Parts: sequence; structure tokens; C-alpha cells
Amino acid sequence: GTEAAADTAEGAAAVRTVGVVGLGTMGAGIAEVFARAGLDVVGVEADAAALDAGRRRLDASLARAVQRGRLSDEDRDGIVGRIALYTERAALAAADLVVEVVPERIEAKREVFAELDRIVPEGAVLATNTSSLAVTEIAACTTRPERVVGMHFFNPAPVMELVEVVTTVRTEPAAAALASGLAARVGKTPVTVGDRAGFVANALLLPFLNHAVVLLEERVASRDDIDAAVRDGIGLPMGPLALLDLIGLDVSLAVLDVLWAEFRDPRYAAAPLLRRMVAAGLLGRKTGRGFHRHADDGAQEPE
Ligand code: 3HC
Repeated sequence: GTEAAADTAEGAAAVRTVGVVGLGTMGAGIAEVFARAGLDVVGVEADAAALDAGRRRLDASLARAVQRGRLSDEDRDGIVGRIALYTERAALAAADLVVEVVPERIEAKREVFAELDRIVPEGAVLATNTSSLAVTEIAACTTRPERVVGMHFFNPAPVMELVEVVTTVRTEPAAAALASGLAARVGKTPVTVGDRAGFVANALLLPFLNHAVVLLEERVASRDDIDAAVRDGIGLPMGPLALLDLIGLDVSLAVLDVLWAEFRDPRYAAAPLLRRMVAAGLLGRKTGRGFHRHADDGAQEPE
């Protein structure tokens, strides 16, 4: 109704402080996105070592932008100054919206949300960046499921424009509109999607990436030729095996497994090679090796 509309128009514009729980690859990127747009960011990690690692990720990404001449030293300092980092979740008490970006385990997410529900002001929106878990299930451990949404960013978060705003059967329109409005305010393109496995982008992307692993497994073509075929023939920015390394083979497998569990569609049956590589700890860029080998700076190295 009109009340919801008012909440919408004012909601996103009124947001001043955004919380980010978890400063891994995605969390650090998401914190950067909000701080670049002028918002105050409260970043939280579990302990001092994880917080240091998060700070290093943020610093490295900003240093790279400065080095490439896309960011002035002054603007970098402004961004850094807007990001406050803590190991105590109590620091989130001032947040208007919090995005949870902890590892993809339902117990971990539910523990975070139950605590956020106690700490974060009553009207604030709680968002999860999950790519493979049901937002509905995460929302159910709070007393405010109507204020819970998914805000699904894409890797690398500072570059990719899309944010899938995921609504559940309990989400109120004003909360979804606030999340979409905020995404737009920080320069992203929001799309609204329902809470089903894979949402939209991953439901389409993952079977394609998985199929590339099947082609490799069946020795139809070499790794580099599969990547070249897609990059140079279809015009995507990266080949599918390189993209799996960027996303993380573990994350990719988790998404495929929930798609399979929900729909039992053979398109979603993970390639055995993908599962074995995850078991072997070859997770892609974050471990230095997946289908490709990667240098510390993320650059792809020839075999
Ligand atoms: N952080 C910040 N900026 C980055 C970055 C990072 N991690 N990686 C790249 N960039 C910036 C660069 O600085 C550069 O900016 P500039 O042109 O203004 O200098 C720009 O992005 C292009 O980077 P590069 O020149 O280094 O390299 P590329 O042109 O090859 O682009 C890429 C790199 C942006 C990663 C591009 O290859 C790409 O778009 N790949 C596809 C990524 C994709 O599909 N992501 C979605 C995965 S699915 C997902 O995340 C969902 C999850 O749930 C599974």
C-alpha cells in the first residue's frame, strides 16, 4: 500500500550504515561497494586473524584500483575511512541493513541470523548473500522474517553489476524494495527473484559450467580449448573452466547439489571430476589451483 511505497522511497535513501558480516572474497568486495558509494560500513569477522585477512583483501582491491589510475589516493582514503572493522557483532547495533556473507553452511547462517535479530534495530533489513541455501530457512530463525531478503552479489562484487534480490513467502514488499533501492543506489542493477534453488542466474549458469567439466572429463577438448571456444567463440569474458576457478569449485558444487536436490534434473548432476577436485582441495583461485594454476595476485598461469 501507500505506507509500503513511502517506506520504499525513503527506505533506501535513508540508509546510512550497512553491516557486512564476513569479509572473505565476497564480503570484502561487498563492503567495498557500499563504502565506495559513500555509505558507512561496519564489517565484522569472527576473530582477529580473520579480520586482518579481510582488511588485506580490502586494501589489495583498493590498491589495485589506485595503481590502475581508476581511484585517487584521496578517494581511497575516504573509502577506507568509511569502513570500520570489528570482531564484535554488537558493533552492528547502528546498522540500517546488514548483509551476511559467511561460509555456505546452514547452521553458520542461522546462528548469525539469530544473533543479528537480537542486535540489529527492529526495523532494519537482514540480507543474506547465500548462493545455495534457502533464504526462507535462514529467515525462519529470526523474529522478523518479513524483513529478511537475499542480496545475491556476483564475483567479483566490485565489478559485476547484478544483485539478485531474493524474496521469500514471508518477505514484505517494503523490505524487498529497500534492498533493491539500496542496490541501485550503490550502482548495481537489482532483479527480484523468488527463493528457489539457484535463483535465476545460477540456475542458468551452473549447468553450463558443469557441462564444460563433462566435456573435459570426456576428453572432447583440452582445458584451454574449451575455455577458448567459449571466450572467443561465444564472447563471454572468461571460459567456463576459468570461471569455475573464479567462483570457487566448492561454491559451484554446492549450488549444483542444491539444484539437483530440489529438481532432480539431470542437467544439475555434478560432473564426477568437479566433485573429486573439491575433495582434493583444488578449489580454484582461492587455493592457487583449480582447473588452472593461479599466482598470488590472481593472474592465471600456464600449466
Ligand atoms: N576487484 C575489483 N576490481 C576488479 C577485480 C576485483 N576482484 N577483478 C577485476 N577488476 C576490474 C579491473 O580492475 C578492471 O577494471 P578497469 O578496466 O577499469 O581497469 C576490470 O575489472 C577488468 O579486469 P581485468 O582487465 O583485470 O580483467 P578482465 O577484463 O579479464 O576482467 C573479470 C576480469 C571482470 C573478472 C571478467 O573476466 C569477467 O567479467 N568475468 C566473468 C565473471 C563472472 O561471470 N562472474 C559471475 C560468476 S557467478 C557468481 O558469482 C554467483 C555465485 O553465486 C556463484
